[in-house]
Amino acid sequence: MGDAEVIAGLPIVASGITIVRGGTRVLDGIELTIEARSRTFILGANGAGKSMLLRVLHGLIAPDAGTVRWGRQTARPINQAMVFQRACLLRRSAAGNVRHALALAGIRRSEARQRVDDALARVGLTAIADRPARVLSGGEQQRLALARASALEPEVLFLDEPTASLDPPATRAVESIVSAIHARGTTIVMTTHSLGQAKRLADTVVFLDAGRVTEIADATQFFAAPRSPEARAFLEGERL
Ligand SMILES: Nc1ncnc2c1ncn2[C@@H]1O[C@H](COP(=O)(O)OP(=O)(O)OP(=O)(O)O)[C@@H](O)[C@H]1O
Ligand SMILES: [Mg+2]
Repeated sequence: MGDAEVIAGLPIVASGITIVRGGTRVLDGIELTIEARSRTFILGANGAGKSMLLRVLHGLIAPDAGTVRWGRQTARPINQAMVFQRACLLRRSAAGNVRHALALAGIRRSEARQRVDDALARVGLTAIADRPARVLSGGEQQRLALARASALEPEVLFLDEPTASLDPPATRAVESIVSAIHARGTTIVMTTHSLGQAKRLADTVVFLDAGRVTEIADATQFFAAPRSPEARAFLEGERL
């Protein structure tokens, strides 16, 4: 069994995560366990700290205090990926972008070829595999970012508002791709400002308010009756 398989199935455990910026605790002692293979949505108002928390969990930012562990391990598995609001693509073809990510991850070329084809097929971009990534539409670019991430076969995929700049059809396409990636065994950790999207996709909701977790709940229960006053106020505001 390889390292990746050993790590698969372990929860992500964040403990005491604190980030201080400009004298403010933008994350303030976050305690959070994300179960393997869950679809965990981090919800909260603008500035609550959602993007910051995703970045800390992914290892892009080191916290000022606290730890992120994978089960009992402190070493971060390399097998994780992140997708942002806007796809950050290279000046290469669509397929070239996926190929490059696999090369960086050290995947052998013989194996990479199949993974590129499979990933582009998964997101419905096979027909435009050779087109320069920069000329793709916004929706196509985001699907390409998902193809690139899923080709890495990550244990965990972090997504920070991946549909924020997309129209409804492109949003639905991204949602079904995220579901397909989850069905392959990947843990999904995602933020969104769309409550509809969270209702469609989440199984667990983490509610953040001013850098603190006020509530971690089963998604169905959260949307029916949030327990924390902060989450209640947020949901009421969104319904206006
Ligand atoms: N370098 C910095 N200096 C001061 N404040 C910062 C810095 N970086 C981030 N912040 C603050 O940290 C807070 C959390 O930011 P973050 O981007 O995580 O919020 P968010 O929940 O993702 O919001 P949004 O819904 O708008 O995406 C914000 O209030 C932001 O202004
Ligand atoms: Mg954000």
